[in-house]
Amino acid sequence: MTPRAVVFGAAGQLGVELMRELAARGYRTLGFDRGEIDITNGAAVEAAVAAHEAGVVFNCAAYNQVDVAEREPEAAWRINALAVRHMAPACRQADARLVQFSTDYVFDGFAHYPYAEDDRPHPLGAYAVSKLGGELYAQACLDDALVVRTSGVYGPAGCHTGRGNFVELMLRLAASQQPIRVVQDHVASPTFAPLLAARSTDLVERGQTGIVNIGGGAPISWFQFARLIFDAAGIDPLVLATNQREYRSVARRPQYSALSNAKMERLGLQPMPAIATALQLYFAQRPAFAASQAG
Ligand SMILES: NC(=O)c1ccc[n+]([C@@H]2O[C@H](COP(=O)([O-])OP(=O)(O)OC[C@H]3O[C@@H](n4cnc5c(N)ncnc54)[C@H](OP(=O)(O)O)[C@@H]3O)[C@@H](O)[C@H]2O)c1
Repeated sequence: MTPRAVVFGAAGQLGVELMRELAARGYRTLGFDRGEIDITNGAAVEAAVAAHEAGVVFNCAAYNQVDVAEREPEAAWRINALAVRHMAPACRQADARLVQFSTDYVFDGFAHYPYAEDDRPHPLGAYAVSKLGGELYAQACLDDALVVRTSGVYGPAGCHTGRGNFVELMLRLAASQQPIRVVQDHVASPTFAPLLAARSTDLVERGQTGIVNIGGGAPISWFQFARLIFDAAGIDPLVLATNQREYRSVARRPQYSALSNAKMERLGLQPMPAIATALQLYFAQRPAFAASQAG
């Protein structure tokens, strides 16, 4: 029987890749961007899940504005937590599995080692609290929810999404011909969206439940990541290392939020390639997305 899936947030970086991945694996998939279904509309979510008779629902929709969330925590909570509170029962009624995406920001970053799934969350800001709320609601309402935690997502759709991604930000800054300052004392696991989509689908196909990390692999500082981006792009702008004392953001962020992929690998999933390799893939795929934006 053809597997059936629903993707919410289908126009985001991850949503675009999941639509592609699921199509390649022969799923019959309905994807909804925000204009089609706002996930805070519980009735619309429920109707979509029921009508499509989905076996699996991927919730890629998210409020991701970490700094803005500090002045509008209600909006972050409505989208990242309460909407999941409505989506999960809709999945239960339709007998569909829910895949909820979450973040390395559920951790406080004091550990200085890659976080495992059973490390204790301690979010530092409104965005992070709301994402942890989404995890908890998914697991409170469903026994078989899959929560995938990821980090610093970058996919070629970030060329034209509202929020973009770190790679596109670096390219814009490089075009401005000014020195670029990037924090070297914040470490994460930047994750290439197509690989995140593929590994998440692998987990679903293995019937995995609970929390699983899918990060980009080796821990890396944002400064080092910027250097790799410019290497992959074949450009050489002036990049200066800064730190969190000099570069203060509105929201507190975990200083070290790298995710361990050990569980994912124990489950038999393919390890992530080196970050430089993932960036090469990004730059190979990017022109098609940039062209679709121009067209
Ligand atoms: N991006 C990262 O660095 C990062 C890091 C860790 C975890 N994550 C998690 O990974 C998942 C995928 O992120 P991503 O990078 O694909 O994010 P993204 O590119 O920002 O996509 C999120 C999508 O959700 C949509 N959306 C926002 N509010 C919505 C609503 N109320 N109803 C329906 N759709 C809504 C957005 O639409 P609009 O553009 O119209 O707002 C956007 O298309 C999310 O759960 C995110 O929290 C991301």
